[in-house]
Amino acid sequence: MQRIERISQLRRQRADWRQAGLRVALVPTMGNLHAGHLSLIRAAAEQADRIIATIFVNPLQFGAGEDFAAYPRTLERDSDMLRDAGCDLLFAPTETEVYPRGRERQTFIEVPGLSEQLCGASRPGHFRGVATVVAKLLNMTQPEVAIFGEKDFQQLLVIRRMVADLNLPVEVVGAPIVREPDGLAMSSRNGYLSAAERAIAPRLQASLVAAVGRLRAGAGLAEVERETLQALAEAGLAPDYVSIRRRHDLAVPDPSLRGAEDRALIMLAAARLGRARLIDNLACDLESPLADLTPNLRP
Ligand code: PAF
Repeated sequence: MQRIERISQLRRQRADWRQAGLRVALVPTMGNLHAGHLSLIRAAAEQADRIIATIFVNPLQFGAGEDFAAYPRTLERDSDMLRDAGCDLLFAPTETEVYPRGRERQTFIEVPGLSEQLCGASRPGHFRGVATVVAKLLNMTQPEVAIFGEKDFQQLLVIRRMVADLNLPVEVVGAPIVREPDGLAMSSRNGYLSAAERAIAPRLQASLVAAVGRLRAGAGLAEVERETLQALAEAGLAPDYVSIRRRHDLAVPDPSLRGAEDRALIMLAAARLGRARLIDNLACDLESPLADLTPNLRP
């Protein structure tokens, strides 16, 4: 595996691969890799002939008082993991390489509508930072396909929207959440948890599973959200939000849940636990109501 810091070197390798007719997949990361990231590398291998992974802890997506300085930087270990997983090239640029004019004077990309809600409401500017760095990484690496984890579901939709709005010639692929045996979604930030917090953390996913069961049993959206917030607080987490949305655009579903788009749902939650802010989500497809399936039987 090659390890590259400079955009100019990256471009040369990319040009060689293009000339050889090879399809390239990008897996952008902030490092401190775990099995979830390795699943993205495996997904990339299914999609392309060559895999580029990037490791860059992007300062633009951290708010004031967030964990930018503390974010674990484990480049040597990450590099070994990527090589063993079959990655072809690791691009690990410095901050100056990515933002040569400085953070404040960088051109930004805003994805309005999707960015200000849910995680964006409690982390203002976060998705602007994500969209900006991902657009830059896509331009630097020029992949045919880019792979993102579905744990950051809102991020995945922000990136899909940005790619569509800017007509970027790349296919964006989402890869399923990888979980610990007790259900906790893998995250670099799980390392912030104390042993006692780690024991509580799986309650986030467990509460989503219970909530989806209640939805399927016919409980109302607001009622299920309220119950889930309460269950999280009782478990010792400090919930930021619990929200049931339409999966394709994160819009609030119509409470009648009659339309097909209002029945392909996703339940998203974020909660603080000690130093960590945990996020998770669970898809929920409601059965089509009888009236929708058989219009001629409608009263
Ligand atoms: O999901 C992440 O690790 C980051 O948000 C990303 C996509 C690498 C951009 O910095």
